Amino acid sequence: MALRSTREIDLLDFATNMARDAGRILAERFGRALTVSNKGDIDLVTEADLACEQFIIERIQTHYPRHQILAEESGATSYNDSAEYKWIIDPLDGTTNYAHGYPCFCVSIALEHTASRQIVIGVIYDPTRDELFAAERGSGATLNKRRMRVTDTDDLNRALLCTGFPYDVREHNDFARHFTNFINHAQAVRRDGSAALDLAYVACGRFDGFWEEGLRPWDVAAGILLVEEAGGRVSRYDGSSFNIYTPPILASNGLVHDTMMRVLAM
Ligand code: IPD
Ligand code: CA
Ligand code: CA
Repeated sequence: MALRSTREIDLLDFATNMARDAGRILAERFGRALTVSNKGDIDLVTEADLACEQFIIERIQTHYPRHQILAEESGATSYNDSAEYKWIIDPLDGTTNYAHGYPCFCVSIALEHTASRQIVIGVIYDPTRDELFAAERGSGATLNKRRMRVTDTDDLNRALLCTGFPYDVREHNDFARHFTNFINHAQAVRRDGSAALDLAYVACGRFDGFWEEGLRPWDVAAGILLVEEAGGRVSRYDGSSFNIYTPPILASNGLVHDTMMRVLAM
């Protein structure tokens, strides 16, 4: 579905402006002493996650009161089942990095067309580098308004890959095997701690591929559209079609995808 109506272009502008403003909230608090709470044994939430999410929800509700919202910290805040669109929000992806003053985090905002369940807009903003990644379905993807594309690396031995360690790593028994196999078959593997930025980096050609299990819809919703619109491929580990509600995710430039699937099956 190409988004070319004035209304949907307005939605892209709305989303990018909102991501920049939300990013400012994160940047202002970054490096300060923060109130940090634990959601689980390892999983954190800071006052910055909460302030940023509240800001995003209020802005959406002011401008698009009929839209549904699914946000990481608040869950589903609107139960309007007949809504045409649903916003899917991670107000701060990379919370552990953020809480430690490690400058690798972002805000991730996606818009799902509810009837088709397709993501039609995806925006990821990294305030520390002032990098805005944006895509609308059918119209390509940009980094700071310049068209971006995945790499043309077709040999896994020359590929720089990225992954994430699930918070509940002990329950993901395959993880260590996958990690070892990719270390042995790729040029190098990174673990940066922000799945949304990892996907944005596949889209702009900094990484050739990314895999992770156990991610949630708000971690990946914007990023998968960026990768697809930048010419890459997104699937489950076995190559079947991916949807944001059913991990795991494999995203790549498309050219190393089949080889990555074979490594995941080892
Ligand atoms: C986390 C990050 C991390 C990934 C975790 C996510 P959060 O999101 O994306 O890279 O490995 O699985 O939960 O908690 O920082 O929003
Ligand atoms: Ca996240
Ligand atoms: Ca988060």
